[in-house]
Amino acid sequence: MKSVIVLGAQWGDEGKGKIVDIYSEFSDTIVRPTGGNNAGHTLVVKGEKYIFHLIPSGILHPGKKCVIANGVVIDPKVLLMEIDRLKGRGYLQDDGQLKVGLLANIILPYHILIDKAREEKLGDRKIGTTARGIGPCYEDKIARVGIRACDLLRPESFAEKLRANLEAKNFLLKNYFGGEEVPFQRTCDEYLAYGERLKTYLIDTSLFINDEIAQGAKVLFEGAQGTLLDIDHGTYPFVTSTNTTAGGACTGSGVGPTKIGAVIGVSKAYATRVGGGPFPTEMFDEEVQKIRDRGNEYGSTTGRPRRCGWFDAPVVRYANRLNGLAGIALTKLDVLSGLPNVKVCVAYEIDGVRRDQVPLLLTEFEAAKPVYEQLEGWKEDISSAREFDDLPKAARKYVRKIEEITAVEVALVSVGPERNQTIIRRNPFRA
Ligand code: GDP
Ligand code: IMO
Ligand code: MG
Repeated sequence: MKSVIVLGAQWGDEGKGKIVDIYSEFSDTIVRPTGGNNAGHTLVVKGEKYIFHLIPSGILHPGKKCVIANGVVIDPKVLLMEIDRLKGRGYLQDDGQLKVGLLANIILPYHILIDKAREEKLGDRKIGTTARGIGPCYEDKIARVGIRACDLLRPESFAEKLRANLEAKNFLLKNYFGGEEVPFQRTCDEYLAYGERLKTYLIDTSLFINDEIAQGAKVLFEGAQGTLLDIDHGTYPFVTSTNTTAGGACTGSGVGPTKIGAVIGVSKAYATRVGGGPFPTEMFDEEVQKIRDRGNEYGSTTGRPRRCGWFDAPVVRYANRLNGLAGIALTKLDVLSGLPNVKVCVAYEIDGVRRDQVPLLLTEFEAAKPVYEQLEGWKEDISSAREFDDLPKAARKYVRKIEEITAVEVALVSVGPERNQTIIRRNPFRA
């Protein structure tokens, strides 16, 4: 089997970190292709919790190579903090384990200030971004004025690019947003110092990954965010600024699609969303609090309470269409234990008409009313199930229902945050 992409099939926070950690055992190289530190990927290994914003979730496996590819936007302060924390916990003792793309764009302080100021100005219509400067950094990349990791290694050229950017950004920050300006010299010195520290990790990551593949390595791509947050196909403008779908993994890492063997979509057994935007199956009042508390649904990056809803099949069918899923990794099934009944949304009703597909227009998505099927719940604690047959009958029926309404096989079921709380039904690296 060739390489495998793991990505979010919903609105992010599906449990990609845990799934990547599981699949890392069967792969050699783990690549983060897109996004930035808007992502928060949580792993729990033997009771210890780790949250990664930039470093691939395979890093806890000794000897596995981890790559942050060119498509990622890097806040160097956050990356260095993550590196230091890992080293402090006994990991990443060999710097050669981590590779960072020379061409990755760098998040600078003005990106973060603009992100925050823009959200503030939007008021009620705000996107609910993670305020990490992600959108403004990608804007600069597309406008071809971005500063990249390689620039941090050339002081004169970096200073020149920073000066040119500050002229425009400070004008915007001061005159349009009425905020603080970013000082040139302090920023220049600070970022060149980051470059000095990051130098050891910076390489041509596309060349590295392709060489690895040529030598027979199994590569695992760790998607960030989720399909419905995709800049082209998501609930625009309530999206992130990247292609979070399978194609983005190829462009972000500089690997051709013919090298990809399978795409696995991670989906919760229900649904969550952080930030604004349509969410047809959203729960309210006591119903939402129950799921939020059991599932500990608070953002790993911002700590915001996540909006929670029932499993939405049109959304996952859409994820299948956009990504060509070979399987679903279904997470957090344990969170539904103890509910007398569970519901799945099989279609929407929009203006009195039944619709099986996710609508493209935001106004329609906002008006979509879920058409539910109700299933029997299960009382048993399922967190110690390790085989599919260990699950109670009603839980198995629920998983099979998801397969039926999404037309995608459930290749893995996760029954708790721990590495071993996992049922692997089909391993994409062995198929
Ligand atoms: P990611 O961004 O897709 O990696 O997901 P997050 O880490 O933001 O959020 C998923 C949360 O669910 C994390 O706190 C995980 O530890 C936790 N988690 C993952 N799988 C399971 C599971 O099967 N059951 C439970 N109870 N928690 C899980
Ligand atoms: P992981 O990888 C969930 C959401 C934000 C906001 C929108 C735009 O952990 O699944 P941005 O800061 O990217 O400009 O915010 O996207 N968002 C996420 N939601 N999980 C994520 O990442 C997210 N990354 C961004 O909440 O609605
Ligand atoms: Mg997350």
